Amino acid sequence: MCGIVAYLGNKDAYPILIKGLHRLEYRGYDSAGIALLQDNVNVLKTKGKVTQLEDFCEKENVSGTLGIAHTRWATHGEPNDQNAHPHLSNDKKMALIHNGIIENYQVLKAELMRRGYVFESNTDTEVLIHLIEDIKKKHEGMQLSEAIRLTLSQVVGTYGIAVISIDDPETLIAAKKGSPLIVGIGEDDFFVASDGAAIVEYTKKVVYLKDGEMAILRKGKELALKTIQDQAITPYVQELEISLSQLEKDGFEHYMLKEIYEQPNSIADSMRGRLNVKKEVVSLGGIVEYEETILNARRIIIVGCGTSYHAGLLAEYMFEELVRIPVEVEYASEFIYRNPIIYEDDVIIAISQSGETADTLAAVELAKQKGATVLGICNVVGSSIARATHAGSFTHAGPEIGVASTKAFTAQVTVLTLMALCLAKRKGKISRTKYYEIIAELERIPEKVKKTLETDAITKEVAKFIQHRQNALYLGRKYNFPIAMEGALKLKEISYIHAEGYPAAEMKHGPIALIDEEMPVIVVAPNRGTYQKVISNIEEVKSRKGKIISIVTEGDEEVKKISDFIIEIPDTLEIFIPFLAIIPLQLLAYHVAVLRGCNVDQPRNLAKSVTVE
Ligand code: AGP
Repeated sequence: MCGIVAYLGNKDAYPILIKGLHRLEYRGYDSAGIALLQDNVNVLKTKGKVTQLEDFCEKENVSGTLGIAHTRWATHGEPNDQNAHPHLSNDKKMALIHNGIIENYQVLKAELMRRGYVFESNTDTEVLIHLIEDIKKKHEGMQLSEAIRLTLSQVVGTYGIAVISIDDPETLIAAKKGSPLIVGIGEDDFFVASDGAAIVEYTKKVVYLKDGEMAILRKGKELALKTIQDQAITPYVQELEISLSQLEKDGFEHYMLKEIYEQPNSIADSMRGRLNVKKEVVSLGGIVEYEETILNARRIIIVGCGTSYHAGLLAEYMFEELVRIPVEVEYASEFIYRNPIIYEDDVIIAISQSGETADTLAAVELAKQKGATVLGICNVVGSSIARATHAGSFTHAGPEIGVASTKAFTAQVTVLTLMALCLAKRKGKISRTKYYEIIAELERIPEKVKKTLETDAITKEVAKFIQHRQNALYLGRKYNFPIAMEGALKLKEISYIHAEGYPAAEMKHGPIALIDEEMPVIVVAPNRGTYQKVISNIEEVKSRKGKIISIVTEGDEEVKKISDFIIEIPDTLEIFIPFLAIIPLQLLAYHVAVLRGCNVDQPRNLAKSVTVE
């Protein structure tokens, strides 16, 4: 996600825009830019954070009372000066900023290039400004707002945009679909922003644009709203009621909680343009050229650390079940020092949210030296691991600020699931019926994750029960064993309670000695797969007076009878239970940490990215 801010009025736009970008920097910070209406449209943009943009602007002409500004979180196109927003039309008369993903940008770009438009960047966004120019040229005298409306009617995907034009020096246009955008109404000026944090100090009168709506802002005139279908709308003006600090977290107390709640969107964004159930197509553009290589691989070796390692464990179960290729998962830090055997026909998949984890980067370099093919799954475009691998796919989770990884994990699992599905189909290892059943359920997962967030209340209760414990044991089988590991990691890294994740059956080979009335045991026990076996494991814990918190399929009565607490999650295919089971475990860790007064977003001793070995 990116940060957008725009201003139209009688004040100098530059200070308002720069301060607004600082307020929105948590939404994205790999590059930033500004466009000001002067004798021309003056675009100033640079790779790096907003402070680098400020340094760059010091020597520039930053006058003007109409401007747009953007801080980027790259989804298409490396973070660099050319790919930074705003993007200029070829006639240099208009500039545009965008937050979102244009799914059909390749088709639009090819057609625009055929018509002679020159592209400066390799972003998806740039197609918008050239399409607006193309439409305006074809219709002499057309209003800017009408050209934008016709452009957006051709777009598939999500957008929050703001546009200015030298031919309309007192007009600012904004439009929204799928990405947040609000309009602030000042005394005699207008503001547009991704969220209220950027404008709350100037006005509290706001209109939250809805999907498919466009705002036409003219100096000295009333705000005009219309739909992309050209229907006029009466603006519903509301009051911004929360404080500045809260706004930067969209009203959540911590970034971690905000990111837990973002998961329906971040999972959907990670599927966007890659899953088409109607056409029964799953495609990951970043690895399509390597599908044959993967299918012919001797084996797949997945490397990662921490949460990314747990995503790799899940991929092992999925790939071996669906694609029937041998998979090994390694802690990157162990892999690089144990002199591993790596064949040229191995395929290595490196998983990393930050794309900067030193151990994982070292594993990538080692595998490349041995001649293997190396793919990456990262959340940060332009990161070291993303650049070091031969190819890969980005998770579109947006910036993850909380040190404890949540939405990046489920985004990684989303991309790995898509990879397994497109490989399984290509290899012919999956029937059309089963394939369709899986992809249709995958499309429903964001909605089911949203429903699972309703377990927040019960996890708060369970947190009170756990907050003073010294230890906790997490158990799960098959797909839920990596979830047990991930749930334990969440608890220990932010609440500092010692916690271990174990395969449920493995508990009998040692950890059962730990069980007593002081030991909370969190069991992932959905009524799918090895359900009866897990029930036996729960009985074993109960007979030793362990306190049992069970994650169950909603409506379960059997596990309920033998548990001290139950947390119900929606039913889904066994392969997708991890998406849902991890939600209450994230929330549980969060609430325990809050109760214990821990620093949830910056836990002691930890860093968001471990760039040292
Ligand atoms: C997860 O909550 C931790 N913050 C940590 O284990 C993290 O997953 C690990 O350091 C790997 O980071 P990466 O995904 O950025 O490579």
